[in-house]
This record gives sequence, C-alpha cells and structure tokens, in this order.
Amino acid sequence: MPLLESGWLLRHSVVMCLLLHSLVLMTFCFHHAATSCSQGCYCSESDGRGKTVRCSNLRLTEIPQDLPNDTQRIYLDFNLLTVVPSNAFWDLPMLSELDLSNNELAQLEPGAFRGLGPSLTFLDLSSNKLVNFNPEAFEGLRARANLTNNPWHCDCNLQLAMPFIHLEPLSLTGIVCETSEPPDVGAEGVPFLLAQDLDLCVVMKKTTDVAMLVTMFGWFTMVISYLVYYVRNNTEDARRHLEYLKSLPTKQEQSEASSTISTVV
Ligand SMILES: *[C@@H]1O[C@H](CO)[C@@H](O)[C@H](O)[C@H]1NC(C)=O
Ligand SMILES: *[C@@H]1O[C@H](CO)[C@@H](O)[C@H](O)[C@H]1NC(C)=O
Repeated sequence: MPLLESGWLLRHSVVMCLLLHSLVLMTFCFHHAATSCSQGCYCSESDGRGKTVRCSNLRLTEIPQDLPNDTQRIYLDFNLLTVVPSNAFWDLPMLSELDLSNNELAQLEPGAFRGLGPSLTFLDLSSNKLVNFNPEAFEGLRARANLTNNPWHCDCNLQLAMPFIHLEPLSLTGIVCETSEPPDVGAEGVPFLLAQDLDLCVVMKKTTDVAMLVTMFGWFTMVISYLVYYVRNNTEDARRHLEYLKSLPTKQEQSEASSTISTVV
C-alpha cells in the first residue's frame, strides 16, 4: 500500500511539474503578446481591415504611448481621460478610427490630433466634458466627428473659432449649446450652427465701443484742459504785453522830445 502511494505521488508530481512548466511558458508567451500590443489593451488583426486596439473601460487616465504604429482603429471609450495632449497620436500614420467617447475630456491641446490628417475618417468625442476648444486642436483634420453630449459653452470665442474647423461640416451640428454668452439670446439647447445667426460677438463689440468712447472722452478732456491752460497763459502774456504797450507812449514822448531837441539844435 505505501509503495503504491509513493508511486502515485511520483507520477503525479511529474505531471504537476510538467503542468507548471507549461504554465510558466504560457504566461511568458502571453506577457510577451501583451507588451507587444499595449498595457492591458486587447489587440486583434483581421485580414484587410488592419490592426484594432481595444482599451475600453480600463480606467485609463492617460493615452497609452506604446500603441503599435500600424494600428487602424483605437477604442479608448469609457476611461478617465481628461486631456488629449499635443501629438498624442503622432506616430500612428494608418489610424482611421479613434473612439474617445465617454471619458472626462475637458481639454484638447493644440495639435492634439496632429499627424492624423490624411488617414483619420472618424473621431468620436461624444459624452465628454468639452466646453470649448482651441481651433488648433483640430488642425489638419477633415474627419467626421461625433461631438454630441458635451456641455458646450457657445460664445464669441467659439464663433470666431468655427471658420478654422475643417471637420466634415455635418459633424458640427453635434455642438449643442448647453450655456451661452450672452446668456439669454436663445442659443441654449440649439446646435451652434443655428445659433451662429445670433452673432454672439455683439456684446464684445458693444464693450469695445464703450472703451472707445471712454478713451475718446479722455482725449477730449485733455485737449480742452490744454486749451484752457494755453488761453490763460496767453491772456497773462497779453496783459503783460498790453502793460508794455501802455508804457511805450512815455518812451515815444521821450523820443519825440529828443527829436524836438535835435531839431531845435
Ligand atoms: C513601424 O515601425 C517600424 C520600426 O520602427 C517601421 O519599420 C515601420 O515602417 C513602421 N510602420 C509604419 C506604418 O510606420
Ligand atoms: C454620437 O454619439 C452619441 C452618444 O455617444 C450617439 O448616441 C450617436 O448615435 C452618435 N452619432 C453618430 C452620428 O455617430
């Protein structure tokens, strides 16, 4: 009986050893596969459609920097990203679809999508915290974009930025004003493209008008006070001059007297 048990143990330990060995090998292999893709993301490749990287729902706070350079689609939705830094996707020349929806994005830095201009066809920025944007963030992009479900603040800055956005025009209907400046012109709840007729820069023009008026008034008072000062000074001069003139006749009398003397002589 004990002999049999030890034989059983031996056989089983050999099997266990083999299993462990293969497990170690397997984890090594998987680990290798994971690093060649990106931290925690799932990569797949299908013939003709190129590489897809799925990093959805990973609580990521930063965009992974080790994405394979032949990636065509990236899903970064349902993470905790707050900012897209400049050149974030610079070395992905084949990227055609980029999903950044359902994050906490409030800021797109200038050149955030630099390098994607020729390849990108769809950019999903829906359900984020975008309030406004610097037009340089979208520099070079002509893609279709989903900009819905963001707390857009429509104001003069946004109005001035619009002509510099070259995204597919229909995309811009996704910018629905949640708040606006000025607040009560009827822009809230309306796609910005429609609110644009409202001219949100009027208020700014008015304030510059007031500033102009104030400066002009300032200049005017300066000129007037200078005139007053000048006139006062001159009346003083004039008075002195008058006094001088008044004192002249006596001199003239003297000169006349001297002339009469000379004629007498
Ligand atoms: C990706 O990088 C490798 C090596 O760095 C390079 O040989 C290859 O051409 C790159 N591919 C693309 C699509 O840029
Ligand atoms: C844009 O995103 C919203 C919210 O994620 C979605 O409901 C909508 O279908 C999307 N629109 C387009 C045109 O992709």
